[in-house]
Amino acid sequence: MNIREALPTDIPQLFLLESSCFADPWSQKSLRDTLNEDHSYMLIAEENGRICGYLNTTFVLDEMNLNRICVLPQYRRIGLGTALVGRMFDYARAHGICTIYLEVRESNDNAQRVYRRFGFKVVGERANFYQNPTETGLVMSAPVLAE
Ligand SMILES: CC(C)(COP(=O)(O)OP(=O)(O)OC[C@H]1O[C@@H](n2cnc3c(N)ncnc32)[C@H](O)[C@@H]1OP(=O)(O)O)[C@@H](O)C(=O)NCCC(=O)NCCS
Repeated sequence: MNIREALPTDIPQLFLLESSCFADPWSQKSLRDTLNEDHSYMLIAEENGRICGYLNTTFVLDEMNLNRICVLPQYRRIGLGTALVGRMFDYARAHGICTIYLEVRESNDNAQRVYRRFGFKVVGERANFYQNPTETGLVMSAPVLAE
């Protein structure tokens, strides 16, 4: 498995990945606009040219937001999510980011377990933040500690 930064040519595959993992996939336009931003960092995990997982972040000054992370169902539980989040922290540490934020569905235990392992803690709640189905969003944050 190869992990690298996303390229504009990855957008069609990223849209398919989003569509396989989320009820509300990001459009190709949103993915492209975010990738083109100066303050974004997007990583993909690929095997033989097939994108199996990706992570999508944006940042302002010393704060980063993890907008999305997903792994194709057949590639879950082999450590890809953990590897992507680990690489995100490496990037954050190297770029003066102090805190990483994210939102996660209250019921999404799989994602929360990965996040907690990296020091994320719940710092707030947003009622009805998610649609399809409607659900509370937990706001989590983690400090980016020096190694
Ligand atoms: C959340 C998500 C990205 C996690 O990705 P993942 O690649 O499965 O994550 P990991 O493999 O690193 O870790 C998940 C579990 O697999 C376990 N695992 C990791 N490597 C393993 C291995 N070699 N053998 C067995 N289990 C392993 C981890 O310990 C962890 O177990 P736990 O849940 O009991 O703690 C994935 O479940 C996903 O895409 N979900 C749908 C989209 C989503 O909800 N995204 C988050 C909201 S934006």
